[in-house]
Amino acid sequence: MAKSSNQKKDTLKKTGSSKQKSSDFQPEESKIGATSSEQETGLQKLFTDSIKDIYWAENHLVKSLPKMINAASSTELQNALSDHLEVTEEHVLRLEEIFESLGKKAQAKKCDAMEGLTKEGEGVIEGTDSGTAARDQGIIMAAQKVEHYEIATYGGLAQLAKTLGYNDVSDLLELTLAEEKEADQLLTTIAENSSTSNNNGSSDKEM
Ligand SMILES: [Fe+2]
Repeated sequence: MAKSSNQKKDTLKKTGSSKQKSSDFQPEESKIGATSSEQETGLQKLFTDSIKDIYWAENHLVKSLPKMINAASSTELQNALSDHLEVTEEHVLRLEEIFESLGKKAQAKKCDAMEGLTKEGEGVIEGTDSGTAARDQGIIMAAQKVEHYEIATYGGLAQLAKTLGYNDVSDLLELTLAEEKEADQLLTTIAENSSTSNNNGSSDKEM
């Protein structure tokens, strides 16, 4: 058991070694479409598996965001989440474009992290009263956890794409990464605005 897991680790390490670099890394663009019919390297497999994972995650978010929008009470938060739903739909399409560039069929692989994060968001909604600052703040926190997960994922994927020489794919991933960061920043601003309005005496039944 231990031996086989060590062997796997060794394979991953070797994939990045200079010895294998010339044969395993395929920096030229023309190689992208050819990988499906050839043996994938460890890094290529990690990359496609991770793309399938985030494809599931983004599709799941498209289904989950409407619940958060309906549960939020501030118009500012509702609008931010609604805008992000549209952006998320674009992220799904962008991933489909990436599958196409890789010469692969778009395929989703269940992302346990995103399932957990959205479940946590639903828990926050169940645990707070409608129309309260606590509900909105809880939704902001849950949404930011999702954004941070996506930022980590797209940051890693963009770098991995670059390592593999998939430069056009990396650019698409960077574009999504920037939009996730923007959404995260907007949520921070909304939380700050709401804290200012509460400090200025705006009433809330929980405060
Ligand atoms: Fe996204």
